[in-house]
Amino acid sequence: MPIQSFEDLLLHELKDLYDAEHQIVKALPKMAKTVYSSELKAAFEDHLDQSQQHIRRLEQVFETLNKKPARETCEAMKGLIAEGDETMQEKMDGLLKDAALIAAAQRVEHYEMAGYGTVRTFANLLGYHEASQLLQMTLDEEEQTDKLLSQIANGVNVAAMEEVAAPRK
Ligand SMILES: [Fe+2]
Repeated sequence: MPIQSFEDLLLHELKDLYDAEHQIVKALPKMAKTVYSSELKAAFEDHLDQSQQHIRRLEQVFETLNKKPARETCEAMKGLIAEGDETMQEKMDGLLKDAALIAAAQRVEHYEMAGYGTVRTFANLLGYHEASQLLQMTLDEEEQTDKLLSQIANGVNVAAMEEVAAPRK
C-alpha cells in the first residue's frame, strides 16, 4: 500500500509492530529455555505473556481505526532475532551467554520502545485518543521490561565475570 497520508504512515508503522510482536512471541520460548539464570528465564516467560497481550492490544488499536489487523514484515526484528539465535548457538559458559542474551533482548525492547513511542505520538496527533492510550500502555510495559532486564543484568554480569575468572569445575 502506498503511503500518501499521515494516517497511512501510522498504519504502516502499526503493521510493522504487529509483525514484530508475532516474531517475538515465536522467539521467546526458545530464549527462555536456553538461559541459565532462573530470574532471567522468568523475565522472558513473563514477557512472552505480555507480548501476546501486546498483539491483542494492537488488534484493538486496528479496530478503533476501523482497519483489519495486518502484518508487514519487520526486517529489523528479523535481524535482531537472527542475532539472538546466533548467540544461543554460540558455545559459551552459562552466565556469559545470559549476559549476551540480555544484550540481545534489550535491543529488541529498545526497537519496540521506539516503535510504540512513534505510533503513540502519531495517533495522538491524528486525534485517535483511544488508540494513543492503548499504545501508551504497551510502551509503559516495554519500558518496565527494559528496566527489569537492566536490573537482572547487574547481577548476571558480575556473576558472569566471576565465573569466567574462576570457571566451575
Ligand atoms: Fe511488546
